[in-house]
Amino acid sequence: MTARGRFITLEGVDGAGKSTHTDWIADKLRSLGHRVVTTREPGGTPLGETLRGLVLTEPMTLETETLLMFAARCEHVAQVIEPALAAGEWVVCDRYTDATYAYQGGGRQLGVERVAVLEQWMQPSLQPDLTLLFDVPLEIARARLADAREPDRFEREGAAFFERTRAAYHARVQAQPQRVRVVDSSRSIDEIRVQLENELRSLAAMQPA
Ligand code: ADP
Ligand code: TYD
Repeated sequence: MTARGRFITLEGVDGAGKSTHTDWIADKLRSLGHRVVTTREPGGTPLGETLRGLVLTEPMTLETETLLMFAARCEHVAQVIEPALAAGEWVVCDRYTDATYAYQGGGRQLGVERVAVLEQWMQPSLQPDLTLLFDVPLEIARARLADAREPDRFEREGAAFFERTRAAYHARVQAQPQRVRVVDSSRSIDEIRVQLENELRSLAAMQPA
């Protein structure tokens, strides 16, 4: 029987620097002998990518926004993440449910409880094995985003939204410190990768849950 793969998610506020490491993490895992799929949320399936386009650009209520994040996630888990894990592949996903807790629950002030209800309704069993939370202060994130393409609906939000989102991510660390590992992303890329390699090796050495 094929051993189940592991599920790794990357989180952080916009501009924290997580996308910079996605391919590197995948290559590192391959060098350790694992088959790897990289994917992202919202997105990862044809329907999910269509929903992504809407949610990043169209005005909508907070409830609609939250439901669309979960709708995209439902498809993603069913079509991509679960099948890959079952086939023994490791899945590296740029954002997952912690992002809904942080952005909708915290940034937009929906609250943890309402996000938790949807999480339990959708997929009670699929939690990441490891979540890497790329953490930076506001001024660093803003400076890193400055050269990027046209900002989306979330990137246009102000400092208070950013601070609430970051605080909600930290609450996820408090709630599940074993799973959610903080990466001080204000350091150099090389310094960050030393920590990432340690986290990945620890996960690879652990027995599956
Ligand atoms: P995110 O995916 O979290 O929004 P990115 O990975 O796209 O952020 O990074 C945003 C910008 O910051 C990019 O231009 C990237 O090159 C730069 N960057 C990322 N990490 C670092 C770092 N540790 N030091 C300096 N610049 C960085
Ligand atoms: P991301 O792919 O990180 O953006 P980028 O292409 O700029 O790197 O994420 C897109 C945006 O979606 C980001 O601002 C965070 C937001 N988001 C939520 O608000 N809730 C969610 O559940 C998810 C998955 C993303």
